[in-house]
Amino acid sequence: MNPDTRKRLTAIHRASFATHGYKPDTLFWSTRGIQKTRFRVLTDIGIACGDSLLDVGCGFADLAGFIHGAGTVIDYTGIDLSPEILAQGQQLNPNLNLLCGDLFDFNFADQSFDWVMLSGTLNWQLHDKGGYERRALTQMFRLCRKGVAFNMLDARKIDPKLLGDLIAHEPLQMLHFCQSIAPDSSLRDDYLDNDFTIYMRS
Ligand SMILES: C[S@@+](CC[C@H](N)C(=O)[O-])C[C@H]1O[C@@H](n2cnc3c(N)ncnc32)[C@H](O)[C@@H]1O
Repeated sequence: MNPDTRKRLTAIHRASFATHGYKPDTLFWSTRGIQKTRFRVLTDIGIACGDSLLDVGCGFADLAGFIHGAGTVIDYTGIDLSPEILAQGQQLNPNLNLLCGDLFDFNFADQSFDWVMLSGTLNWQLHDKGGYERRALTQMFRLCRKGVAFNMLDARKIDPKLLGDLIAHEPLQMLHFCQSIAPDSSLRDDYLDNDFTIYMRS
C-alpha cells in the first residue's frame, strides 16, 4: 500500500477510535448486528474446532469472539493497520495473537493458516485501480490451506455518489478474478442489501 494511503487510513481510524471507543461505529459498521451478519456468512465457509485463521484488518478482533462464542476453539491471528484499534483489541483479548501492520508487512510462509478471512478491510478507496485488492486476494489465497472468505460492498446496489471515501465492487467481476486464482470460488449475496461475500476454496 502506498505510504500516503496508509497514513490516511491510519489517521481515519485513529480519529474514529478517539470519537467512539470500542464500538462498531469505530469500524464504520452501522450496528453490531450487521457486523455479526458478515461474520456469520464468512464463517459459513466451514471453519471448525482446531482450525487456524488469519483475519486481515481484524479491528478489535471481534471475529475471534464471534467464533469462540459459538463454541468453536480456533488458533486466531489478527492483523490491522491501526495501532489504536489493535491495542484496544489486545487489551480486550490478551490471549490472542494480534499484529500491527498491512498484509504485505509480514513474511508468512505459504499455507500458514487453514483459513484467511477479511471483513470490511477492502471497503476503502485506495486510488490504485483495484491493484491492491487483487494483490491482497492473491496473497491471502497463497497463505491458506483450506480457503479464503472475504466481503465487499456491492456496486450494483449502492449509489456511487453516496460512497465518499469508500469503494464498492462489481461482484461478478470480482468472482471472475478470484476464479482465475482459485477455480473453486463462489459468490454469496443473499444476506444484506449492499454487500457480497466470496469463498475461494483450495
Ligand atoms: C471496517 S473495519 C472491520 C474490522 C473487522 N474486520 C470487523 O469486522 O470487526 C476495517 C479494518 O481494517 C483495517 N485496515 C484497513 N486497511 C487495512 C490494510 N490494508 N491492512 C490491515 N488492516 C487494514 C482498519 O484499520 C480497520 O480496523
